[in-house]
Amino acid sequence: MTRNDPQVRCLDGAIDGTALEKGVERTLHAGRPILVRYDLDWIRLHVSRDELSRRESGIWRYRELLPLPLDVPPVSLGERATPVVPVERLGASIGLPRLLVKDESRLPTGSFKDRGMALAVNLALGFGRRRFAVPTNGNAGGALAAYAAAAGAEAYVFLPKDTPLPNIVEVARAGAHAFLVDGLISDCGAIVRQMVDEHQCFDVSTLKEPYRIEGKKTMGLELAEELGYELPDVIVYPTGGGTGLIGMWKAFLELRDLGWLRRETLPRMVAVQSDGCAPIVRAFDSGERFASFWEGAYSAAAGIRVPSALGDFLILDALRASDGCALAVPDGMIAGWQRLACRDSGLAICPEGAACVGAAEELARSGWIRSSERVVVFNTASAHKYDHREALDLPVIDPKLPALPQIERARERFQDPWR
Ligand SMILES: Cc1ncc(COP(=O)(O)O)c(C=O)c1O
Repeated sequence: MTRNDPQVRCLDGAIDGTALEKGVERTLHAGRPILVRYDLDWIRLHVSRDELSRRESGIWRYRELLPLPLDVPPVSLGERATPVVPVERLGASIGLPRLLVKDESRLPTGSFKDRGMALAVNLALGFGRRRFAVPTNGNAGGALAAYAAAAGAEAYVFLPKDTPLPNIVEVARAGAHAFLVDGLISDCGAIVRQMVDEHQCFDVSTLKEPYRIEGKKTMGLELAEELGYELPDVIVYPTGGGTGLIGMWKAFLELRDLGWLRRETLPRMVAVQSDGCAPIVRAFDSGERFASFWEGAYSAAAGIRVPSALGDFLILDALRASDGCALAVPDGMIAGWQRLACRDSGLAICPEGAACVGAAEELARSGWIRSSERVVVFNTASAHKYDHREALDLPVIDPKLPALPQIERARERFQDPWR
């Protein structure tokens, strides 16, 4: 039976441009990621921007720009487009009055990882795969567990043992086989490789199959559509494995080649890392195309604690091609930025998103971003996916005693429990 995917031209080895036949299960080429290439003439002929925006909201609206065969109904969790929220008070406090937050916390499992896993799982199901494995700092595991559950497939999820508790719980609750590992995501990755060899698991690790990037690409497609196909001046993105940054950049290039953008200038891409784990920043600053392993990685923002990225060169190429930059923020300041960002926006900004708020503030202060520019910060997950109990020191009221004096006393002692 022929696959109904005329929108896909071929796949490409990202490192050397080797064209690879489509319609075949693929993982890496020459040890590096594979990218999907589209037949843009076919797409231009068969769909328009306006037609896309009349469809139901969500990632599958962009069907012709995604690799799933067009006649295959996707396994879906009812994903909807996430909003781009103007955050004037927060913007004013960091010197960027035109600040916007693309709030990815609204996706089914509360993070942007749903986008990538939706595509990876659907494509792998089409190749007959029903057993998946992933190393994860939390959110990707939650997303895999959810999509595998929806598909009735099996998922093995390996998480560092200090992963935030809500992440661990969501994986186990969705029925995945969850394992804690006394190490980093790179140690989890080594275990997944054994599961692939011994137990025929399909490895959906970041960039080890070609389709998670395509799912993340929908962040860029959505952003463009939401802003009337006039892209912002700067995008500030928390970078771990880099799928989101690579995917968004790919989306912008495809939109430009389709002739759909109202302004041809593409955003300057900013990769934000923590000074506890900044391999991409180090490589960017020293002009390298590849990043070396970051020893002793730590971060309060679990999602960007990624010591080595398979797609390092794709991240670095995108930063340079966009006239962007890479910035490591002090890890110890992330919690403070998170408090500021949540309080001044009302959004549930996660630590990774908060690192971006801090980076945007720093770039505004140094003049790299001008105050007249339109800046989009990505809030990649919901703050609710992190366990903050120990960070709170809230007053407890004894209902057997008069309440108001207790409240008065507490107000004197706890001016603001978050400060
Ligand atoms: C909340 C959050 N933000 C950012 C990242 C980094 O994502 P990427 O792989 O796109 O660099 C992760 C990855 O785990 C994450 O969970």
